[in-house]
This record gives sequence, structure tokens and C-alpha cells, in this order.
Amino acid sequence: MMDSLEKHVFICDGICCVKKGDAHEVIAAFREELKATGMAAKIKVSEVRCMSRCADAGSMVVYPEGVWYQGVSTDDVREIVQQHFIEDRPVQERVAYSLSEEGKFVRSPLFPSDETIV
Ligand code: FES
Repeated sequence: MMDSLEKHVFICDGICCVKKGDAHEVIAAFREELKATGMAAKIKVSEVRCMSRCADAGSMVVYPEGVWYQGVSTDDVREIVQQHFIEDRPVQERVAYSLSEEGKFVRSPLFPSDETIV
């Protein structure tokens, strides 16, 4: 039901993310955890092909807040569901970019780089 949707999560299953982050298992693990926590109707998970962030594989992005995660593995799924999706606190140890108030994606200070994405 779209009227109860709170977040839309795009998880990359492009070649880099499959090789480095085991994307297929990550996607399945998110869907299982969302069902187990009763969040499946509120959080939609979509598989997408390369999001041009291969250096950050496994990549995923959460909207509407525009938080990009890097290096996501099945080990991170339970914490991201609990802390980000339920408690609304992104897991900073895995955040690559966040959306600023000006609408720009800003690289996390935990993963410094001069790259920015728009
Ligand atoms: S293959 Fe996942 S970001 Fe490129």
C-alpha cells in the first residue's frame, strides 16, 4: 500500500556491488528483516543497476532523506533497519553521502574525498 510508504530504498545489484558487496544476499536480507520487524509495508526495496558509485560498493540509497550508504553487507542489514528505518538515525559508519539543506550531496567526514555528487 503506497499510502503507508515511509521510505524507498534502492539497492544496487550491478556487477561491482554483486562482486564486492554480495548485493543479491543484501537485498534478500533487507526484505526478510523488514518482514520480521513488521516494516515491509512502510519501506519499499527496489533493485537497481549500477548507480555510478562503484567505489562505494555495496551501494544503496534511502529516500526521501537522500542518504547514500557504502560498503553495505548482510552484516549491516539488521542495524540499518533498526537504527535508520525504525529509529530514524542513519548508521553513520556506513553513510557515504547525505543530502544537505541546500540540496547537495555531501561526502561523510568518515570517508573523506573531494568528490561530490549532485
Ligand atoms: S555496480 Fe553498484 S554502484 Fe556500480
